[in-house]
Amino acid sequence: MISKKMQDAMNEQIKYELESAYLYLSMAAYFHSLGLDGMAQWMRVQTQEEMVHAMKFFDHIKDRGGRVELLPLAQPKREWSSPLVAFQEAYKHEQFITSKINDLVKIAKEEPDNPANVLLHWFITEQVEEEASTSRVAQALERIGDSGQGLIMLDRELSTRTFTIPTKTETSQS
Ligand code: FEO
Repeated sequence: MISKKMQDAMNEQIKYELESAYLYLSMAAYFHSLGLDGMAQWMRVQTQEEMVHAMKFFDHIKDRGGRVELLPLAQPKREWSSPLVAFQEAYKHEQFITSKINDLVKIAKEEPDNPANVLLHWFITEQVEEEASTSRVAQALERIGDSGQGLIMLDRELSTRTFTIPTKTETSQS
């Protein structure tokens, strides 16, 4: 059975993951408003991935006899001063999420909580990818600068991102 301390910390993490989904969906709406549908598509896929992250914690609490509690979500921003600033914020946000995963790892080690450790291993690897992917786009936007042609090409490239529905095993522990 999951400890009260870990249950509370994971319930909080569900909130952070759902707030991530909310933030990226708001960024998708912002990119659509600029006619950058490729960047919007990238953010829409990111939103779906964040929902998967939230559900991993949801299922973990449930499967270990805990009680999921959904906490209030903060309203996301709706405007950014440029696509570059939006992606820089996404990168910064992912660094924040990594710090929250590290907090959970610390609790899992202290308790010790082996099942949580296994789940958190997946998130440690995932966060490396999350930081790299947001930072890659921010760097590309920095290089592009004021080039309209460059922006269109990057938007086209990002439009190819797709979401793959995870299998049952992938949505729980793996
Ligand atoms: Fe669920 Fe992007 O961290």
